Amino acid sequence: MRDFRGDTIYFIVLDRFCDGNPANDHGKDEADFDPTRTDFRKYWGGDLAGVLKRLDYVQKLGANAIWLTPVFDQIDEPIEVGGVKMAPYHGYWTRDFKRLDEHLVDRPEEVRVFARDDTVFDRLVAEMHRRGMRLVLDIVCNHSSPHVAGARSELFDDGVPVCRYDSDAGQWYHHQGGVRNWGDLAEVQSHELCGLADFNEESYAFRSYIKGAMKLWLDKGVDAFRVDTVKHMPIWFWQEFTGDMDVHKPHTFMFGEWFQGGCWDPASIDFANRSGMSILDFSWRNAVVSALACRSPAGFGEVAAVIGRDHLFRDATDLVTFVDNHDLPRFLSISNDPERFRLALLVTMVARGVPCLYYGNEQLLHCDTNGGNDPFNRPMMASFEETALMREVATLAALRRRSPAVQKAGMRTKWIDPDAWVFTRPYLGSSVAVALNRADAPRDLDVANLELDDGRYADVLGGAPLDVSNGCARVSLAPRSIAVYEQTKALPTGKVVVDLQIHGVRTAFGERVAICGDAPELGSWDLARAVAMEWIDEETWGTTVAVDASAGSGVHYKYAVLRREGWQREPGRGHRRRVPADGATVWRDEWHG
Ligand code: NOJ
Repeated sequence: MRDFRGDTIYFIVLDRFCDGNPANDHGKDEADFDPTRTDFRKYWGGDLAGVLKRLDYVQKLGANAIWLTPVFDQIDEPIEVGGVKMAPYHGYWTRDFKRLDEHLVDRPEEVRVFARDDTVFDRLVAEMHRRGMRLVLDIVCNHSSPHVAGARSELFDDGVPVCRYDSDAGQWYHHQGGVRNWGDLAEVQSHELCGLADFNEESYAFRSYIKGAMKLWLDKGVDAFRVDTVKHMPIWFWQEFTGDMDVHKPHTFMFGEWFQGGCWDPASIDFANRSGMSILDFSWRNAVVSALACRSPAGFGEVAAVIGRDHLFRDATDLVTFVDNHDLPRFLSISNDPERFRLALLVTMVARGVPCLYYGNEQLLHCDTNGGNDPFNRPMMASFEETALMREVATLAALRRRSPAVQKAGMRTKWIDPDAWVFTRPYLGSSVAVALNRADAPRDLDVANLELDDGRYADVLGGAPLDVSNGCARVSLAPRSIAVYEQTKALPTGKVVVDLQIHGVRTAFGERVAICGDAPELGSWDLARAVAMEWIDEETWGTTVAVDASAGSGVHYKYAVLRREGWQREPGRGHRRRVPADGATVWRDEWHG
């Protein structure tokens, strides 16, 4: 199912999480393994059996999806990077996209993952699905491995050689050298990133190979893709790719890594809007780290400014948000301030988007060597004990699972200054109100128009309750604290539940948007019975419609804006869709006209 907004993702660097099977530690070359776990450029033993063993732990944290670094068979020789040899423990130097790497499996024969169905990978997927968890596979289409320093880059198809960078008669690779002008997107997409042998997407054979491989992984039960280096391939390739994957396994959630992409980078916005996949929200991460780790003068203003640009995306609620990842120094290496780190993690859990935790966040894991830069941002998971932060993340993950507001609403700022931020997220009768104070002094804020029903609300995180009267309340915040207040009402239910969004509609303050169509559930073209929608951001409105009579039928509909002068119907011929026979579905539309 494409909709991940009720999920919490846990991102694991496989080699650094848990060694479930010491028998595979050495791989093909003993010298690449460091049992002391001090050489950050060698294998340290983490594997698929280790993830299987720790599913209880991940669930205790409240995460129900796991993103694993790539599992594909890696090159066997370490490569010199910046004068130091590095083994491909990270998974981004692939030689065979149709095999598992030998460091990850339980028995050597399991590397032939598509020749059998009893590998540790199969067992992991089955066990995750049994628990209602979803597996996000990290995939790479842009490159195989580096061809620098005498290393050979070559590609195999389940063990059968298909091409080599050095004798590439079939032109599977670009041979253009490294990117020099990073401002030139065409160059970025046809030249090499750090000496990584760059695939030539014009090659039909390459495209067939890579798409074929990824379909096999979907057939294995993978639920979603995190897609590496999307900035480095042209959008037409991604449109072909996402379309093919969607036909093969409809509604597979995909999100791309456009390094440093987000609302301040127009090319990444264009990619998110037109490629068929969402992106990782680096803008959210940068603003949160700036406000809370660097304690920037603008503070929460920086984070709210990111949210203020949500309308540039067709669907900002689908962006994958995070605080830490494996390519940037961890928050705690930037500022060893667990209290404000807690605020960063917890606000990400209740903000718009799909939150993604980085392994060890909940344990305050960090290594500050060289500023905590790669590879020191990938230490070994040191403990699997339950922590207080873990319990709080789990509390908010549970809130996310049950709250339509946390999943689907936009964010409306009700109070802001550099040190304090209050926002609410109303959606069809549900809402959450979130209040933050990053300062060392307590704050009392008198906030109006909270869009909560009158009454007393407990802080989901155990802080002071909130008394709302006529939509107003005094919010009392301890130093360095976050409070979360919940009002949850059930969404409409029916044979089919349709989650709808219209993007590209401009409204003035006080105007409202509704959807109206030929189906009785959409008002049978009677605007008086049109389905009301919720404001998500400046150009996006959303709603949830229960469908019974029209389940399995075609529907025709338009959006309309109730302006001061009356209804303005969407220009054009409207939208046509087929409602599935049952289940839940997601429709995303652009305003015609
Ligand atoms: C981005 C990944 O996140 C990073 O870790 C990797 O080294 C590069 N892409 C190349 O695959």
